[in-house]
Amino acid sequence: MLSGKVALVTGGGNGIGRAVCRLLARDGARVVATDMDGSAAQGTINMLKGPDDHLALKMDVTDKASVESAISSAIDKYKAPPCLITNAAGIIRDSFMLQMDEKAFMEVLDVNLKGTYLVTQAATMALAEHDVSSGAIVNISSISGKLGTMGQSNYSASKAGVIAFTKSAAMELASMGVRVNCVLPGFTQTSMVADVPDKVVKLILKMTPLRRMAEPEEIAEVVAFLLSDKSSFMTGASVEVTGGLGM
Ligand code: NAI
Repeated sequence: MLSGKVALVTGGGNGIGRAVCRLLARDGARVVATDMDGSAAQGTINMLKGPDDHLALKMDVTDKASVESAISSAIDKYKAPPCLITNAAGIIRDSFMLQMDEKAFMEVLDVNLKGTYLVTQAATMALAEHDVSSGAIVNISSISGKLGTMGQSNYSASKAGVIAFTKSAAMELASMGVRVNCVLPGFTQTSMVADVPDKVVKLILKMTPLRRMAEPEEIAEVVAFLLSDKSSFMTGASVEVTGGLGM
C-alpha cells in the first residue's frame, strides 16, 4: 500500500508515533522515526523488520534547525525527501486556566502547534525543491481541540490550532499535489495518559460510548489510511477516532 514511499514520523519513539511507524513499515514504507529522545526513536526502528531499511533520528519539533537537519539526513539516506509526514509529538502541562503560568501555556503551543507548522513547512519545501509532485501529511490533533477539556486550556487551544492549520495548509498545498489531513484521537493508552487520576479515567470512559481507551494501533490504522492513496480524495479533513466520545 505504501511501498516505495518514505515516511517521516515525529514523536516516533513512543505511543501513537511508535505505532504509526510500525504500521507504515508493515504497509511497505521506509520509515524515518524522529523524536526528541533519539534512543526512543532508535528503539522503534529496532522493532521493525529489516531495521537497516529505516532510519532513527533525534529531532526536536520546536527547533527549526533540528527539523531541517532531520529532513536533510532523510534525503541523504533515501536520495529523495520523505513524502509522507505525521506530526505526532505532543506534550501536556495541565492546570486550570486561572492558575496557568505563561511558560506552561507557551511550551504546549510550541510543541503541538509551532512544531506542526515547522515540520509541515520544512517537509513541503523539501518536496518542492526536489520537484516531487505528490505527498500526504497527517497532523495529530485531539478531540480536546474540538471539545475543549477542563484543566487543559493550553493543550485544547493548541489542538484546535492544529485543526485550523491543517485546513489552511490543505488549501495552499493542494495545487502541489500534497494532501493534508488531521486525526483527532480520543483517550488512547499511552504514557501521555498514564498519570491521569483514576476518577478522571472513569469519567472519560463513561462519556465514551465504546467504554474503553483506544490502543495506539487503532489511531495508527487511520493515519496509515490517510497517508495512503486509499484516501486520495481526502484533504483538509479532521477524522475523529474516539470510540464515540464527543460525536
Ligand atoms: P507519548 O507521550 O506516548 O509520545 C510522545 C512522543 O513525543 C514522545 O516520544 C516524546 O519524546 C516526543 N516528543 C515530545 N516533545 C517533542 C519534541 N519537542 N520534539 C520531538 N518529539 C517530542 O504521547 P502519545 O499519547 O503517543 O501522543 C501522540 C500524539 O497524540 C500527541 O500529539 C498527542 O497530543 C495526541 N493525542 C494523544 C491522546 C492520548 O490519549 N494519548 C489523545 C489525543 C491526542
